[in-house]
Amino acid sequence: MSGRRRSRPAGTADAAEPPMEATMDYASGEYLEDTSQAAAAELEEFELEDLEGVGRVTAQKLRQAGYYTIKDIAFASAHELAAILGSEERALGIIRAAQRALNMGKLFMTAKEYYEERKRIAYISTGVKALDDLLEGGIETRAITELIGEFGAGKTQLCHQLAVMVQLPPERGGLSARALYIDTEGTFRPERVVSMARYRGLDPERALENIIYARAYNSDHQMLLVDEARKLVEEQNVKLVLVDSLIAHFRAEYPGRENLAARQQKLNKHIMQLARLAAVYDVAVVVTNQVLAAPDVFFGNPLKPAGGNVVAHGCTYRIWLRKGKEGKRIARIIDSPKHAEKETVFTITDEGVVDA
Ligand code: GTP
Ligand code: MG
Repeated sequence: MSGRRRSRPAGTADAAEPPMEATMDYASGEYLEDTSQAAAAELEEFELEDLEGVGRVTAQKLRQAGYYTIKDIAFASAHELAAILGSEERALGIIRAAQRALNMGKLFMTAKEYYEERKRIAYISTGVKALDDLLEGGIETRAITELIGEFGAGKTQLCHQLAVMVQLPPERGGLSARALYIDTEGTFRPERVVSMARYRGLDPERALENIIYARAYNSDHQMLLVDEARKLVEEQNVKLVLVDSLIAHFRAEYPGRENLAARQQKLNKHIMQLARLAAVYDVAVVVTNQVLAAPDVFFGNPLKPAGGNVVAHGCTYRIWLRKGKEGKRIARIIDSPKHAEKETVFTITDEGVVDA
């Protein structure tokens, strides 16, 4: 297997690459026996062509459609792939082959195994002790965390800060990794990163280099960027993907009741894209969301997060930020499968987001 490179965007492949000497028979399940790290590393070297049923032409078509690695195929839906491969049956066969290659052929595991697997989840400190405590460790990889709040609540500030925090070494709450920032409203400010980085003891220039930035101009562009992000995360050591804001373009482009169904369907696709990115590439995804006045609420909180059930169900953790007295900010976790519903206070200063 030595000398082979993992699949990458068309054009980067070495055409003179020798054909693979020995083929591994995925279908036989032989590979399932070997779960060692070395085997996993070896797998990373596989090309799409190494999958049973995938020839050069098919591999090319798959890459053109944005499927670059065996992981991409393993987590695809047959319905999606059928459009490229001609039939769902064929798609399913190839997906199964990819899943077997990734040792996903095993459908069930014990809770103990799942527990061990979850131990590999990593956390990014928010830089605010009270918030980290509320989150029981910080922002989680392999999950989508949603920051909800009205204007000025601090969502964008927290996104900036997380893009800095992820760069810190693990002993200081980071993952020694880079951030990918998708800015839909044009509110990203490198100057703010400079102040925050300096306060956290990072070289500001390097901190800026470690944030990969893209401005999303509309919802289609936003979705395209997430598709492209899949290529970048592993190559560029990205451990945090931020989308600020998740929903602004969707709301602007699909106004009114008559467009609601279409909007929600597309938004759902976008969230699935993000969920897959988080799960497959082991990154933390953080999105921001606005709040709306709910005309039908007469008792209790008259505000609700935008995006309805699609966003509520799609995001793993939801943090509601609101403005308190004397410039303080209050964070509350809502609808969490693992956190108690409690609140904490923090503040925003020239140095960034800090404890109150
Ligand atoms: P929308 O995007 O409008 O929905 O709001 P948001 O939740 O993203 O708010 P954002 O994170 O932009 O918070 C803005 C607030 O952060 C401002 O009202 C300020 O209180 C604070 N802030 C932003 N930059 C600075 C700064 O450089 N120094 C200080 N002290 N505060 C700042
Ligand atoms: Mg904002």
